[in-house]
Amino acid sequence: MNENETRFTEYKGSSDYICRMNPQKRVYDNIVQAIGNTPLIKLNHITKDFPCPVYAKVEYFNPGNSIKDRIALNLIEDAERSGKLKPGGTIVECTSGNTGMGLALVALTRGYKCVFTLADKMSKEKIDILRAMGAEVHVCPTNVEPEDPRSYYSVAARIAKERDGWNPDQYNNLCNREAHYMSTGPEIWDQTEGKITHYVASTGTGGTLIGTGKYLKEQNPDVQVWGIDPDGSILKHWFDTGEIKPELAKVYAVEGMGEDFIPENYDRQYINHIETIQDKESLLMCRRLAKEEGLFCGSSAGAAVQGLLQLKDKLKPTDLVVVILHDHGSRYVGKIYNDEWMKEKGFL
Ligand SMILES: Cc1ncc(COP(=O)(O)O)c(C=O)c1O
Repeated sequence: MNENETRFTEYKGSSDYICRMNPQKRVYDNIVQAIGNTPLIKLNHITKDFPCPVYAKVEYFNPGNSIKDRIALNLIEDAERSGKLKPGGTIVECTSGNTGMGLALVALTRGYKCVFTLADKMSKEKIDILRAMGAEVHVCPTNVEPEDPRSYYSVAARIAKERDGWNPDQYNNLCNREAHYMSTGPEIWDQTEGKITHYVASTGTGGTLIGTGKYLKEQNPDVQVWGIDPDGSILKHWFDTGEIKPELAKVYAVEGMGEDFIPENYDRQYINHIETIQDKESLLMCRRLAKEEGLFCGSSAGAAVQGLLQLKDKLKPTDLVVVILHDHGSRYVGKIYNDEWMKEKGFL
């Protein structure tokens, strides 16, 4: 018996340890293979007054610490197949940080260069992390129209043209929602053994909500798909009325979610309800997730759980809810988890 075998024998009997002895050994040839298969973790405190169990799909277990690793892989592989991304090519994308991180991970294993444009309201950590992964980052003003040449959409389009780069366009490239249709949806269905009744996610490009929602509804059309949208985004108004009103857009503090236009990844037939949340409640919910559940998450995760709390009365004892926690709190330590910043913004 070698040293390791002795150690394994000693730990036999600990349910935690046995749980780690997964038949799928999780040994990979590169970081990209570690994307997906994230855990589903029951919320035990915040949702204690709920009539039914609530499980969080904790997406910061992805190697780039967010759900966006999933779409990065699918976007890049599709562009390789179609010839839009050539060997040694440049990827240019406007991103709230997480898609950039996913793209950077996949790009560096395959020899591509990355240029990203971000809005200046994004946390400094996100910008530094992208630079650490070898990407070139351009920070653009938040308070301008998407068509303005200074907006992060316009800057990305201009650089892509100048450098003959490939723009994945996570907003309108349907490989975004397809990635969730192929991975997030089947994982949740399998992990809940088909018992899920409600799927809840903060929504931005729509990829997470629609791709996963479509898969789940195809398995069981009764599954309810609830999107969570910040006050200041135009998505709820569009879903409720069918009208696209960019003039309703306002700046909000939660990151990665909400939109001032309707990306092509949206498809209303897979949504049952969109719930509006406020910044303050969402950011305070992030703090509760960390302190009460041990889940150290980004602002859209707090928003999703806050939105779900607002919808509690629609649930029954026979239901089973899955809520997506999109990313990790480390990218927000200078904001949500910083008392001075929270006080300065009036959130504490
Ligand atoms: C932290 C975070 N939460 C939520 C979302 C929204 O996900 P989706 O774009 O799939 O709608 C994003 C997207 O960028 C994100 O980065």
